[in-house]
Amino acid sequence: MDKKYFFIIGMPAAILLALWTQAAFARANEAHECIQCHRRLNPSLVTDWELSGMAESGMNCTQCHGSAHTNETDSKKAVMPSIKVCGTCHTHQAERFTMGKHGKAETALSISAMGKKVKAHAPGIFDKSCATCHNSICKDGGQCNACHGSHKFSAREARKPEACLPCHMGNHPQYEAYGNSRHGALYRSRGLDGNVPTCATCHMPEGDHMVKTSWGFFGVRGEEPDPQHSAAQNTVKGAVEMLGPILAPDSFRPSMAQWTEHRDKMVEICSQCHAKSRARENLSACDEIVAQANQLAAEFIKSADKLKAQGVLNQKEYFWLIRDKMHAQRMGMYISAFHQSPEGVLLELIHFKRATMAVQKQQSEKMTIDEKR
Ligand code: HEC
Ligand code: HEC
Ligand code: HEC
Ligand code: HEC
Ligand code: HEC
Ligand code: HEC
Ligand code: HEC
Ligand code: HEC
Repeated sequence: MDKKYFFIIGMPAAILLALWTQAAFARANEAHECIQCHRRLNPSLVTDWELSGMAESGMNCTQCHGSAHTNETDSKKAVMPSIKVCGTCHTHQAERFTMGKHGKAETALSISAMGKKVKAHAPGIFDKSCATCHNSICKDGGQCNACHGSHKFSAREARKPEACLPCHMGNHPQYEAYGNSRHGALYRSRGLDGNVPTCATCHMPEGDHMVKTSWGFFGVRGEEPDPQHSAAQNTVKGAVEMLGPILAPDSFRPSMAQWTEHRDKMVEICSQCHAKSRARENLSACDEIVAQANQLAAEFIKSADKLKAQGVLNQKEYFWLIRDKMHAQRMGMYISAFHQSPEGVLLELIHFKRATMAVQKQQSEKMTIDEKR
């Protein structure tokens, strides 16, 4: 190379190369040190990481945790990665996650009247219940390890229904309902590769990270073509508003067009394995259960309203009574129906009927006492 050209082009290039190599060595060195020290501290964490696809593709610890922390005393300098870090490489998943309901779980909790109540009166319980579920999917905009447990970060693991279990159970018993359905039974006997739908098959088709359904959590919609069901839904919406969560972002589909879009998508999914017409009929029958659950709830709310007006229930008792039945029994009925658990539908119906009768009995007893006075 001509001397002149070397100084213009070659020299800076050589310096850059040297710097780059030095940086790369430093990174590799740091990464090696991370592993060396942490293999001693947390051996299983490191083994899991080494089994992951990302480790295999040459990634290292610093790409998620940064390199500011280097020894025993400065561990607080390590970055704890959220969607902001994962999303730098996995932009598509991060965008879709944010658009769906999982990306709104932190806001939903922070504006809920129920959440505010529990947080104010029992912060320790709030942290160990509400916040544990809602934040472990959504803190800092998103926690991608909610389904891809660290440090394996496996896609396959997230396809299993167990990935959803810690949150979608109990008060929102999708896991239990699915587990007691024909689908769940077949999953247990055939496993993940048995052509049986799991939660992810129906709610994250082709790895779409945007989760949202037609009826949503609350089982109400913005437009209701059936006038009788519309009246019941309005009563339910009123009670839900008292509990607060109707204010949550994207709580229900505002128009029938949006509601139908999600339904059509679901029928497409069923049709991988079932006749389309049968799937559609099955889901329409489940819509009937939503209507019936809302009718029962409306009846229950009206009876509870009277008890409150009679002074039998104070505001606090009223709040918790409504909250309990609206959540457990009303939602339990349609969650069970949509997840094909026949026992769940029946059991919640029986509980609901009993609770309504108990409230009505209290109401008539109070009336008799008042009359005797
Ligand atoms: C000389 C040992 C040592 C080295 C080297 C080291 N760490 Fe650590 N690291 C620790 C100790 C000690 C803790 C704190 C453990 C505890 O709290 O029990 C820690 C904690 C962490 C945490 C958790 C931080 C938190 O807020 O809880 C992360 C993440 C982490 N290290 C990543 C790394 C990465 C990435 C590297 C390489 C850049 C690295 N470590 C290098 C010793 C080390
Ligand atoms: C793909 C990103 C990614 C890589 C690469 C990565 N981690 Fe992590 N690490 C995470 C996530 C996510 C968490 C959990 C963060 C949280 O809970 O807020 C975590 C948590 C930790 C913790 C705290 C664990 C606990 O439960 O107390 C340590 C320690 C840690 N990582 C060390 C390492 C070490 C050492 C390496 C390299 C062998 C590594 N990480 C590689 C994403 C990563
Ligand atoms: C520096 C870029 C980068 C970052 C940051 C990153 N990833 Fe990855 N990730 C990759 C690459 C490259 C692959 C492909 C490796 C492979 O073939 O599985 C991958 C693969 C994956 C897979 C598929 C693994 C499988 O089983 O097929 C999951 C899940 C995943 N990453 C989750 C995460 C999560 C969660 C975070 C944040 C905690 C994260 N990634 C951060 C680059 C990255
Ligand atoms: C760490 C807790 C957590 C895990 C794990 C989790 N979810 Fe969720 N999920 C939530 C929370 C919280 C919401 C409600 C967010 C909101 O309404 O703002 C939610 C909402 C949803 C919704 C939206 C329902 C609607 O239309 O309103 C679907 C669908 C869903 N999750 C499916 C899944 C599936 C499938 C899995 C497993 C692959 C899963 N979730 C794993 C916490 C979790
Ligand atoms: C076991 C995990 C878990 C706990 C504990 C939990 N939630 Fe949730 N929460 C969820 C899931 C999952 C959903 C979505 C369920 C569905 O769509 O059927 C949800 C939905 C919600 C919604 C509805 C948001 C919307 O889209 O309309 C609100 C509000 C809410 N939770 C508040 C709370 C409050 C307040 C607490 C504590 C008193 C709490 N959650 C405790 C998992 C949990
Ligand atoms: C609610 C559970 C859940 C959460 C939370 C979640 N994922 Fe996933 N992810 C899945 C499922 C299920 C699959 C497998 C989809 C499939 O192959 O059918 C998957 C697959 C992936 C893959 C592999 C993609 C491919 O085509 O092989 C990557 C990468 C990934 N997720 C990244 C992320 C990132 C980044 C986040 C945070 C924004 C995240 N995931 C949060 C459930 C989840
Ligand atoms: C065979 C398909 C299928 C499987 C498998 C499935 N779901 Fe669903 N899921 C549905 C349908 C259908 C609805 C109702 C959609 C609507 O609103 O029209 C629904 C509704 C939901 C909702 C919204 C509230 C509700 O229950 O009505 C959540 C959250 C949810 N499912 C989570 C899960 C979780 C978690 C699993 C696994 C434990 C799971 N689903 C398994 C089809 C499925
Ligand atoms: C990946 C395949 C697959 C998908 C997707 C799927 N199913 Fe199934 N489903 C099955 C199999 C297999 C059976 C058992 C069929 C049999 O033995 O005749 C079954 C059984 C059923 C049954 C009978 C339950 C009983 O108790 O007898 C109903 C109802 C059903 N599915 C509804 C649905 C609906 C609704 C959807 C979509 C929301 C759906 N399925 C999606 C595979 C699937």
